[in-house]
Amino acid sequence: MTQRPYVVDEMISAKAIAARIEALCREIHDEFEDTQKLVVVGLLRGSFIFIADLVRELDLPVEVDFLEASSYGDGMESSREVRILKDLRSGIEGRDVLVVEDIVDTGHTLSHVVSLLTSRKPARMKSIALLDKPARREVDFKADWTGFEIPDEFVVGYGIDYAQRNRNLGFIGKVRFTD
Ligand code: IMP
Ligand code: MG
Repeated sequence: MTQRPYVVDEMISAKAIAARIEALCREIHDEFEDTQKLVVVGLLRGSFIFIADLVRELDLPVEVDFLEASSYGDGMESSREVRILKDLRSGIEGRDVLVVEDIVDTGHTLSHVVSLLTSRKPARMKSIALLDKPARREVDFKADWTGFEIPDEFVVGYGIDYAQRNRNLGFIGKVRFTD
């Protein structure tokens, strides 16, 4: 498959992301300040840079774990299913958990993961997404914390890919096709 030519226009700078993460971490700290240890769960692969910056800004005892989920349609956009491709290494019953996602788009992925992990009876469970595209929502779900609400644009960078490219950009940019 040949890739359509495109350029990436900066939408959210690295500096703005860093400032927002500082503010979010103050709120997360307030919520979990009495925790014994917070299990920070990154959803692979898009959250890998966000979770790295988040845990380094968070002045709490943390454990880092990863979960990989894949959402796919069965031909109908509305009948999305979410599969777990890689589960957590550790049990979370009775523990404090923060789930970290790159983008909430239709909402299927994060709402599914949150209900799955809730069924394992954590003591406290919260979710955070760097980006939220409310215009695209198909299920009634909102992360407990959101970095930025963005319009319905396809974005890349800061961990987020387009066909497995552009994850290594330091900023969030929107894809603009040039053909
Ligand atoms: P949803 O909320 O289940 O629709 O899916 C969210 C997932 O779709 C995210 O974790 C991303 O992997 C992917 N996604 C949604 N919007 C974008 C985008 O603009 N660029 C790249 N990936 C996206
Ligand atoms: Mg993803």
